Amino acid sequence: MSDKETLERLPAVGVDFMDDDHEEAFALLDRIVGSLEGLVDADPEPPGLRRDLRDFIEHSRQHFRHEELEMQRAGYSPLPIHKQEHDQRLEELVGYVDDLDAGVISLQGLKSRFLDEFVPWYHKHCSTMDKATAKFLEANPVSENKPCDQCWVVTQKKRPV
Ligand SMILES: [Fe+2]
Ligand SMILES: [Fe+2]
Repeated sequence: MSDKETLERLPAVGVDFMDDDHEEAFALLDRIVGSLEGLVDADPEPPGLRRDLRDFIEHSRQHFRHEELEMQRAGYSPLPIHKQEHDQRLEELVGYVDDLDAGVISLQGLKSRFLDEFVPWYHKHCSTMDKATAKFLEANPVSENKPCDQCWVVTQKKRPV
């Protein structure tokens, strides 16, 4: 994605908890992309960037876990392949922040990894693996289909105001 593009919305997949989580993910991604796009060499670090990255990592950790639990409950056989993608990308995301903290990558390095590698992957993952998973979950509903405690949206709503 180039500096001038705006972040494309994530595609709807048709399963409520996934679409709700993806909407949350989009809002968090949009903040990070907004901080990174247009950043040039001598610019200082945008305020809140690391906090936003950590929030997105935590959101992704919970969202990925929830998808994996639902795939497991529904007996979805491609679960290991889907989980492998989650694990790999989560590790990369954590690595971005660790490298930034350690001074191993510059803001420009983070910008190119995040905008050119992570964001396109996230869109592709939602359009392919998540869509296929959603289709299976819709066709194979689990009897006790209660929301799981791992769900980001559910846990956010449960928190006392
Ligand atoms: Fe997802
Ligand atoms: Fe996924």
